Amino acid sequence: MANGKERAAAPKGGGGNGNGNGNGSVNGRNGQVTVRTMQRMKERGERITMLTCYDATFAKILDGAGTDVLLVGDSLGMVVQGHDNTLPVTVDEMIYHCRAVVRGTKRAQVVGDLPFMSYQATDDEGFRNAGRLLKEGGVQAVKLEGGERTCPLVARLVDAGIPVMGHIGLTPQSLHQFGGYRIQGRGEEAGEALVGAAVALEQAGVYSIVLEGIPWPLAQRVTQAVKVPTIGIGAGPHCDGQVLVVYDLLGMDPEFKPRFVKSYDNFHNRITEAVGSYCDEVRTGAFPDLEHSFE
Ligand code: KIV
Repeated sequence: MANGKERAAAPKGGGGNGNGNGNGSVNGRNGQVTVRTMQRMKERGERITMLTCYDATFAKILDGAGTDVLLVGDSLGMVVQGHDNTLPVTVDEMIYHCRAVVRGTKRAQVVGDLPFMSYQATDDEGFRNAGRLLKEGGVQAVKLEGGERTCPLVARLVDAGIPVMGHIGLTPQSLHQFGGYRIQGRGEEAGEALVGAAVALEQAGVYSIVLEGIPWPLAQRVTQAVKVPTIGIGAGPHCDGQVLVVYDLLGMDPEFKPRFVKSYDNFHNRITEAVGSYCDEVRTGAFPDLEHSFE
């Protein structure tokens, strides 16, 4: 994975799309980021920004700050529900969170994750569940984990008008198969297989591919091998875009510090201090004062 020096030494493209002004002609109605916007961004070398999002309040903030894509990730099983991994999340839970995020979003593209065992057993099941995320959850696209195995389903979804984001590398739903959260694609053979998986997904019709937990030279190879944008997480600086779990970016959990996460703030401390002040003031009677009370 890239270290700080490699990151700094590897700028790519210019500008970024800020609050969306650079791509007006390919954005959808109301200026919303679409699959075409993302394709155009890759062609222009503009980096795509993606963050996870699980509720309407955060959606308003992240959307207003100019994030291109909001992913209602099944990571909500860990950071919202408190599970040890993403496996317990259900389709109904995903739909609940997708609806909330969609309500809070104006410009960003909202993508819903297909949770574990909602598409692995049969393609028919995956087809119906993806349809539910669009129809009931209101998202514009779905994401699913896996390479060649998922291609028939991807092709069927795309044929039915459902944009699909692929996800390869350290795919968290295969955690037990990997024997833990281990970097994938190390070595010539594994690297070759990953490039093959990306190309197969592209041929099946995905509009974008998340590359998670792979060495940065491999992510660079994949990004060059496919025309659709790649979005990296723990995949170094050469992807067409980046995604982080928003709680990690904000520094909500001081104990979770993997190498690929950069915390841009320490909201764990800030929230702890704010809540501590509130508790002190309630206990001393300083809150509520008359300014915060009605006659
Ligand atoms: O569920 C999730 O949040 C994800 C991203 C980290 C890519 O899949």
